[in-house]
Amino acid sequence: MKKTIMLSFLFFSALHLFSADNYPQLVNVMNRESFSLNGSWKTIVDPFEVGYYDYRSQPKKNGYFKDIDYSTDRSFLLEYNFAADKTLYVPGDWNTQRPQLFYYEGTVWYRKHFEYTPKADNRVFLYFGAVNYEAIVYLNGEKLGTHVGGFTPFNFEVTDKLKSGKNSLVVKVDNKRKPEAVPTVNADWWNFGGITRDVRLVETPKTFIRDYFIQLNKNNPNEISGWIQLDGSTKSETVKLDIPELKITKTFNTNADGYVQISVPIKKNTTRWTPENPKLYTINLVHNNNSLSDKIGFRTISTQGTDILLNGKKIYCRGVCIHEETVGNSSRATNEADATILLSLAKEMGCNFVRLAHYPHNENMIRLAERMGLMVWSEIPVYWTIQWENPETYANAEAQLKDMITRDKNRANVVIWSIANETPHSDARLTFLTNLAKTAREMDNTRLIAAAMEKEEKRPGVMTVNDELSQVIDLVSFNQYVGWYNGTWAKCDSVNWEFDIKKPVFISEFGGGALYGNYGARDQFFTEEYQEELFIRSVAMLKRIPGLAGTTPWLLKDFRSPRRTLSEIQDGFNRKGLVSEKGEKKKAFFIMQKWYNELKGQ
Ligand code: GCU
Repeated sequence: MKKTIMLSFLFFSALHLFSADNYPQLVNVMNRESFSLNGSWKTIVDPFEVGYYDYRSQPKKNGYFKDIDYSTDRSFLLEYNFAADKTLYVPGDWNTQRPQLFYYEGTVWYRKHFEYTPKADNRVFLYFGAVNYEAIVYLNGEKLGTHVGGFTPFNFEVTDKLKSGKNSLVVKVDNKRKPEAVPTVNADWWNFGGITRDVRLVETPKTFIRDYFIQLNKNNPNEISGWIQLDGSTKSETVKLDIPELKITKTFNTNADGYVQISVPIKKNTTRWTPENPKLYTINLVHNNNSLSDKIGFRTISTQGTDILLNGKKIYCRGVCIHEETVGNSSRATNEADATILLSLAKEMGCNFVRLAHYPHNENMIRLAERMGLMVWSEIPVYWTIQWENPETYANAEAQLKDMITRDKNRANVVIWSIANETPHSDARLTFLTNLAKTAREMDNTRLIAAAMEKEEKRPGVMTVNDELSQVIDLVSFNQYVGWYNGTWAKCDSVNWEFDIKKPVFISEFGGGALYGNYGARDQFFTEEYQEELFIRSVAMLKRIPGLAGTTPWLLKDFRSPRRTLSEIQDGFNRKGLVSEKGEKKKAFFIMQKWYNELKGQ
């Protein structure tokens, strides 16, 4: 009994750690009144965290976050300053901006000065698209709060904390890997540190539309349903939903908490969002003559036996996995231009789907994919050997899941929330993931829940998935590397697959490596010919899989990884890309393109 009480105490105190500091997430920031704090920030690299702890490892009262200006007062000892010649660009990772920081894992202090003129009837929020991995944020020397998790947005209300005139914003960014973190210390991607996404000051009316969920009702094709959440009022308010193209205007009255469930009849022939016709409708949410607009697509996603159904019709997900890394510089991708290059390559391959591995990508990627007609598998970095029995680790994973769903729940193209990748079987892991799946479904029961499980041999020559998690999620989704980590490409010819559970089969990773331009024998690892033959044999094997509903080969583009040290071949890159880090298409790219074009034609 005692242990249970202790564990539950730990659990709830951990939840506090990941929720109290930040204000509830503002959604659709890019369509709100705001101004950008992107650009050049002054920085201090602080591997011993001198700017935070004193020599007795106690937090300092006058750390770097006080941002004292040494040039104005030299009457006392000051051993730091934010110098003009030590800047980093925001958004962006530090690793690829400064050679000395390429492998750096530790603290970097970022500082931005900005002018602000408070407006009487506004509220103001400081919004971060993401910071990897832990951020402690200070405004004018006062701590606003902490955020943990490298790929999800967070914001603080600063209405009463901003000064008229010059303001000092200081952020302590720490990308050290930790066993209890999410992801934990071992991952197969570069630990890009920094303020890696947009920073904005968002201005809202005193009472404003903070959040909303507007979807086609999954059980009634003639209805749009969801809810709207106001912020700032303690009484019932009137809020209007306006969809001009559908000639819909309807008002609703919120409860005293600012919340109202909505449902609006629509014509049965309202255009559905599909990859072939990614139709988006402008919606306007209006309160007190303040309007917040968004573009929403209407579709349903479901499964029936081994089929995935989009708008009630069977669809095959012709996908590819993508890391959030730029073509060319191989740095953390941040903006729409980066997304355009990556997603255009996926479209050129014949994709209607992308698995955005292994963490929530930036919002530009999701919204551009929506406009381009690419369905999305979005995932939290519950990756490999997470600390399944640590309540803080669970609270962290759950907070990242909630933040991912909060941000992207109105994106029609997001069809799958994924809660894990290649996680080792145990009772603790099953409980951890079952709880995450439950949380995801409570927040959003309109999408599929998946995870990348692993295969095993059922009997010689026959592979299957034998994972209790497959009872919990909606797909038999798993990674397999027959012909790379498991035999050579010839093995594909003799392997068959059997599944005891009748759900759509989704191969969330397969493939192998090749150095672009490394031509040679077809049986030699890392030649383009080997990779090409591997994909030829893999496709032939995949075609034999009963109930196959989707494939996302690993992966679109070679990417940086500290695990890949084979000199002259890998040189710090995972070479399983179908294109090189410069975007050059390998022979295998055209094998996938040929198969997907055949599937398109079917
Ligand atoms: C795993 C893992 C990927 C990794 C890949 C590889 O399946 O999910 O993140 O990069 O294998 O070994 O290349």
